[in-house]
Amino acid sequence: MTEFKVFWYFYHSKINTMLETILNHRTIRNFKNDPVPKPVLDVILKAGSRASTTGNMQVYSIIVTSDSLLKEKLWEVHFRQNMVLQAPLILTFCADFNRFNIWCRHRKADPGYDNFLSFVTAAIDALLAAQNCALAAESHGMGICYLGTTTYNADKIVDILELPRFVVPVTTLVMGYPAENPELTDRLPVEAIVHAERYRDYTAEDIDRIYREKESLALTAKLLEENKLETLAQVFTERRYTRKDNEFFSRKYLEVIRKQGFMEQGVSKE
Ligand SMILES: Cc1cc2nc3c(=O)[nH]c(=O)nc-3n(C[C@H](O)[C@H](O)[C@H](O)COP(=O)(O)O)c2cc1C
Repeated sequence: MTEFKVFWYFYHSKINTMLETILNHRTIRNFKNDPVPKPVLDVILKAGSRASTTGNMQVYSIIVTSDSLLKEKLWEVHFRQNMVLQAPLILTFCADFNRFNIWCRHRKADPGYDNFLSFVTAAIDALLAAQNCALAAESHGMGICYLGTTTYNADKIVDILELPRFVVPVTTLVMGYPAENPELTDRLPVEAIVHAERYRDYTAEDIDRIYREKESLALTAKLLEENKLETLAQVFTERRYTRKDNEFFSRKYLEVIRKQGFMEQGVSKE
């Protein structure tokens, strides 16, 4: 079978609902009031727990927020994005060596996880669990939106959710039943992100070809008009993700990682 036929077979085969869920993903930013039934939430969290995890250590935690007062506090620190108030559930995924450290200390083992590598390990675990939860939710007809603001205001999230040392928020999912049905968003062609055997760096011609479709979208024209800018790249560098903001929030996040104990480079004392 050619590659296309294999794709076609799986895509149209009713047995592969997982692939259908993945290929139909769109971020949802408007939610109905309907609560998520407990058994559905349970299976979503179970799916999170079945994600691959470094050394089977499961060095992450998921904080499930449904309380309206806590949601309002989270809404403030997530730049007041509406869906934080609207969606019935907010799941905050944290890099977490706290539980593992405690286990080690109760079992005559000396945890050496107060370092940057351990933070990255735990952050990867947390993200894998998050994406499993996202797909499980979508497979139940729910919608999700990740919140990048988690890393911007991680210090405040630590306070609101009372996260102890060795626990750092890395991402958040808002989830619930969709009150909108947005179009699929564009992606770069797959050849843009895949390298055969070794990395092949991009020439100016490659960049022209890879970004051609994205740059010719009606949405791009609208963004350029609204922002009075010449290129789509400038919308990113001058409006959405500026150097100034990136540097400011980098300093803040590094401080949280340090304060939560991941930059000691020594043996844990707690
Ligand atoms: C780590 C991460 C953080 C994100 N943060 C936000 C956010 O704070 N607000 C928002 O509206 N969308 C957020 N998104 C959603 C992206 O904007 C969205 O995935 C992207 O535009 C592609 O659209 P799609 O998910 O519908 O395909 C985030 C996505 C990721 C992966």
